[in-house]
Amino acid sequence: MKIDVIHKKKSDINKVDFSNIKFGQFHSDHMFEAEFSEGAWKNFKIIPFDDITVSPACTTLHYGQTIFEGLKAYKNKKNKISVFRMDKNAKRFNISAERMCMPTFPEKYFTQAISELLIIDKKWIPNTKNTSLYIRPLMIALDPFIGIKPAENFKFYIFTCPAGNYYSEPVKVKIETEFTRAIKGGVGYSKTAANYAAALYPSFLAQKENYDQLIWTDGKTHDYVEESGTMNLFFVINNTLLTAPLGDTVLDGVTRNSILALAEDLNIATEVRKISVNEIISSIKDNKLQEAFGAGTAATIAPIKTIGYQNKDYELPDHTSSSLSSKFLNLLDGIKYGSIDDNHNWITKL
Ligand code: COI
Repeated sequence: MKIDVIHKKKSDINKVDFSNIKFGQFHSDHMFEAEFSEGAWKNFKIIPFDDITVSPACTTLHYGQTIFEGLKAYKNKKNKISVFRMDKNAKRFNISAERMCMPTFPEKYFTQAISELLIIDKKWIPNTKNTSLYIRPLMIALDPFIGIKPAENFKFYIFTCPAGNYYSEPVKVKIETEFTRAIKGGVGYSKTAANYAAALYPSFLAQKENYDQLIWTDGKTHDYVEESGTMNLFFVINNTLLTAPLGDTVLDGVTRNSILALAEDLNIATEVRKISVNEIISSIKDNKLQEAFGAGTAATIAPIKTIGYQNKDYELPDHTSSSLSSKFLNLLDGIKYGSIDDNHNWITKL
């Protein structure tokens, strides 16, 4: 793939306070753009980050035919760029694309586009603790057509944002048993706008009650925990690490997958299985729930301090440096920033 480059005349980097980076608020100078029409990807460009123009009738705006990804690049101690598991995000992007009747984007183009963009905007990758450059690939459908059918014309973009922590403190989450994020046969496993749109109102209600996030339960019985919308979930009960299985309703998180691989390396007893709300609540009451945490690209590893259920808040044990969440966070950070060997080949160095 040949990418044409138009450089931004004057960088916006001085507008950013790198000592206090808020998640997702600033965009780096450049973005990647590609067009899909007549059955093929074409016109690959890196151009200054800017607004885009679409028809008010376009399929994305009305019917939500759009998908995205989230991954991160880091600057290691030698000032080299490292990108975490971008092949995995490229694959998941195409799984989402198929579910949403959108064209797949060749994996090698996906990784090439990210690599070239990162090299051009290298100075935007922060190098302080807990910071990274968040990379947001995005595909939108463009057909100006009122009616329900898959579009034939698309654009693919990648833009990036310097990022600090998504959650700066342990989170307070509420087990949601009224609203539903995803159901069997739906689009829950696809990183598409609909999942996030469906979560807005229930999350807004939970935020009014002072919760940071929801724990989604299965749409049929609301008896089993699934994921948290911004992250997958892990629980430690009786020294066993538990997480819900993947399926139609749970996003196949890259951080979740990496934690399961590290748990295997460390011989940590792990069970990937259905976890009932009852099991969570009774193990909190019996002091058997040792810890709970969320795992996601934006959230990294977010310890859970409180779980709300049926109008009651249950406080969890404090997270310490010997918690599994701290162990996984340190290992993942070490691999990303280059102080721990990358035995799984997760890092691409640029
Ligand atoms: C990510 O973790 O990359 C996401 O897309 C979640 C979003 C809340 C930022």
